[in-house]
Amino acid sequence: LIHPVILCGGSGTRLWPVSRKAMPKPFLPLVGEATLFEATLARTSDPAQFAAPVIVTGEAHLPHVEAQLGDTDATIIVEPAAKNTAPAIALAAARLPEDAVMLVCPSDHHIANVAAFHVAAQAAAGLARKDHMVAFGITPSLPETGYGYIRRGAEIAGGFAVEQFVEKPALDRAIQFLASGDYSWNGGIFAFRAGAFLAELAQHRPDMAEAVRQAVAAGTSEGARFHPDAASFAAISGESVDYAVMEETSRAAMVPVAMGWSDIGNWQALRDAREGDAHGNRTRGNVELLECRGVLAETDGPRISAIGLADIAVVVNGDEVLVTTMDGAQLVGKLSGAAKQ
Ligand code: GDD
Ligand code: MG
Repeated sequence: LIHPVILCGGSGTRLWPVSRKAMPKPFLPLVGEATLFEATLARTSDPAQFAAPVIVTGEAHLPHVEAQLGDTDATIIVEPAAKNTAPAIALAAARLPEDAVMLVCPSDHHIANVAAFHVAAQAAAGLARKDHMVAFGITPSLPETGYGYIRRGAEIAGGFAVEQFVEKPALDRAIQFLASGDYSWNGGIFAFRAGAFLAELAQHRPDMAEAVRQAVAAGTSEGARFHPDAASFAAISGESVDYAVMEETSRAAMVPVAMGWSDIGNWQALRDAREGDAHGNRTRGNVELLECRGVLAETDGPRISAIGLADIAVVVNGDEVLVTTMDGAQLVGKLSGAAKQ
């Protein structure tokens, strides 16, 4: 069985005003009726394929996690501090048997084709059993600088060797990568054998590996929750798995997958992940649109009435109103309303 490791971390301000610090993105029903976190659990719940999940989260998100767990029989690792994804994954690896194959899943992505996700997960698990550090590769469609890029190497059983892993390149490099046709985006979903991951971490980030080992050794359990030791964990300098392991390892592999993946990074991506009407409009709540196309309009209160708009998002939430072009959507985090909430 594959052991899902579900990461519930950072907050993200680019879906403001709906996603706020008090209720961040994973816990909102952004696409369909389930929240992104609930959908992540559902995708990894088939008992023929998956063991009970390990959820790694912070104190602040814990109430949301517990409220949305349903009857999932999960272990929850409560991080004493946010140290980014490498330590979070290492905590889970250290709590699992050495030979457990972990499937690391962010809790804030949308995946339209769950069957394709399962096929890729099995292929990735096969490679992870051979001690590869396995990433899910997504066919890139624009020179996005917020993603990792994977240069495909030789074909191996179930996927490809990785020639190079480049986390968040500058725009000029991203443009070259896209044009070359040799690169995939890193989807942020990984498969590792727990023992192999810890061995790689010990090789490339020995201090981090040792601090995590100590935090787990001195940690305490409380029912289904595990609390790593705060003092040992505090000493860690935070770093993502992409820099700490994927860029460094010589054992990287990639499984290509077309599964309707989106990390819903902004309102434009959210519009595209939602089902549209005949004019490509997506509305939620009390909304009336005339002669609009490609508009995302949603409100939790007052009615939105709009005429003649194209590719605009109008979002009403509580006492905040956001209006942006789709091109402008990536700048939402820079608004003072988004920054200070
Ligand atoms: N538990 C925990 N603790 N989770 C965390 C922490 C942490 O300290 N930091 C981040 N996470 C969770 C986030 O909630 C998210 O679900 C996931 O880990 C990835 O973190 P992001 O901060 O969203 O990473 P990113 O989007 O900048 O980049 C990653 O994802 C891209 C695809 O969406 C990288 O893996 C890129 O290479 C990749 O392309
Ligand atoms: Mg992300």
